[in-house]
Amino acid sequence: MPHSTTLTSRPEWRTLENMRSRLQSIPMTQLFEQDSGRAQRYFIEAAGLSLDFSKNRIDDDTLTALLDLARSCGLEPRKSALLGGKKVNITEDRPALHTALRAPSGERILVDGMDVVGEVQSTLDRMEALTESVITGTRTGYSGKAFTDVVSIGIGGSYLGPKLVTEALQPYANGRIRCHYVANIDGTDISETLKQVNPETTLFLIQSKSFRTQETLENSKVAREWFLSHGAGEQDIASHFLAITTNIPAAEAFGINRDNVFPMWDWVGGRYSLWSAIGLPIALYAGMENFRSLLAGAHAMDSHFRDAPLEQNLPVVMGMLSVWYNNFWQADTHAILPYDHYLRSLPDHLQQLDMESNGKRVTEDGTELTYESGPVIWGGVGSNGQHAYHQLIHQGTRLIPADFIIPLRTHNPVATHHADLFANCLSQSRAMMAGKSLQAAEAELASEGLSDAEIKRLAPHKVIPGNKPSNTLIMDKLTPETTGALIALYEHRTFVQGVIWDVDSFDQWGVELGKQLGKGILPRLLGDAGGAGNAGDSDSSTEHLIERYRSANRP
Ligand code: F6P
Repeated sequence: MPHSTTLTSRPEWRTLENMRSRLQSIPMTQLFEQDSGRAQRYFIEAAGLSLDFSKNRIDDDTLTALLDLARSCGLEPRKSALLGGKKVNITEDRPALHTALRAPSGERILVDGMDVVGEVQSTLDRMEALTESVITGTRTGYSGKAFTDVVSIGIGGSYLGPKLVTEALQPYANGRIRCHYVANIDGTDISETLKQVNPETTLFLIQSKSFRTQETLENSKVAREWFLSHGAGEQDIASHFLAITTNIPAAEAFGINRDNVFPMWDWVGGRYSLWSAIGLPIALYAGMENFRSLLAGAHAMDSHFRDAPLEQNLPVVMGMLSVWYNNFWQADTHAILPYDHYLRSLPDHLQQLDMESNGKRVTEDGTELTYESGPVIWGGVGSNGQHAYHQLIHQGTRLIPADFIIPLRTHNPVATHHADLFANCLSQSRAMMAGKSLQAAEAELASEGLSDAEIKRLAPHKVIPGNKPSNTLIMDKLTPETTGALIALYEHRTFVQGVIWDVDSFDQWGVELGKQLGKGILPRLLGDAGGAGNAGDSDSSTEHLIERYRSANRP
């Protein structure tokens, strides 16, 4: 469903450009002074999450214009197409039905006329049976000992989501299973992980939708060789190696017993797959009940996204605010700042989710974009970031919108730590908005007894311009449900942006080129004297560096 009109020539776009000029000189603090109901009105609650979006450079008219733009870009029909299983991934001719993975058992969602919810539910039941048997110790390793460790081997979407959620659900861990993740082709990753585990009590999960990803296959081979060289036999592979994939023949060819293969489906994108059997490490670590609660939280967000009017729709409002800064205020990046140690991997997961989805250069019909698509997503856990990159947010020359994310209650009530954390979070969003004027800086220096000359010299360095926008997302507590809702919120926010930019948010052709070129370079590094591949695939810099590698690694 490509747009029929260029985005930038829509009347709603022009309206927003004018609004940006009008709001340019208005401080957000003034908007608060003029409107006592602002904080209450710019507040949305859904699926256990609450968004305060009052510290944004908007007024009611801006919000209306942003939502008008969303309507004119066909957000409603495109949302129905997504949720209804239409082939919204147009370059791969597939639906993107991650929402079906968390749909309740009674629902029916059709792909090519076939209901997929039944298959999802029976896979969840298989996951439950496996999880139960491992946690209770009825399924054991080859020597009869209960499993103590799970090593999940996968990369990208087959790694980032599960890793984020296992960390987020640490307070819910059953204490029986330790979870390790191996992703990188850097041999250090697998080597250091294998040093920590015992082959008799370790379950390996090979997580790969395609079962063709170099990093995952090479790391899996190393894991298998290590397993076999530490006392286990070929016949023990069946009890220690599981695969989660759409490519069952490749998993079988690797030596994995068909009964140990959990299915994935083409209609689930890698970066949206933590809700499928790719989430097995989560279930093994925190139990299937908590995994199902995670799905329920995500489903609650799906229902909200489907049913809530645009004005009250959390992913829609967050998505349109991001479009506002990205396209009308030239913000190149967006910071994700979780103030919760359990959410420390959220920025990594959202980086892949958002940048692989919306890092695109053409519209759905292949026309080159004449406007910016997805911003750079980055961030880190608070309060640590305050002592690192927040300086640039406050006083750098760039506009960096930020999302602060914090639970009201903590799992770890240590001294006054949670109040300290909350105070830090609020002080950062307040400082971003209010800043510090030249007069305030001068008055501060004067109160310290500095001379006029010193005040004049130092005051400009202490000015913080303010007017930097932020969202604050709160929840009662970080639970499986709120974790699910939070991740689903960002998935839908990403989709909303993609609809406005008219890009295919579900493919990732950009990552393929590096993989193709790597195939030509690797044999050269390993000793093949031939060319790097097709003519034009190399250059003197690449050749020089290949030579340096070869001479450093000569036998
Ligand atoms: O990095 C590209 C990518 O295709 C991601 O989209 C995907 O999550 C990752 O590789 C891993 O792919 P697979 O699960 O097929 O091994």
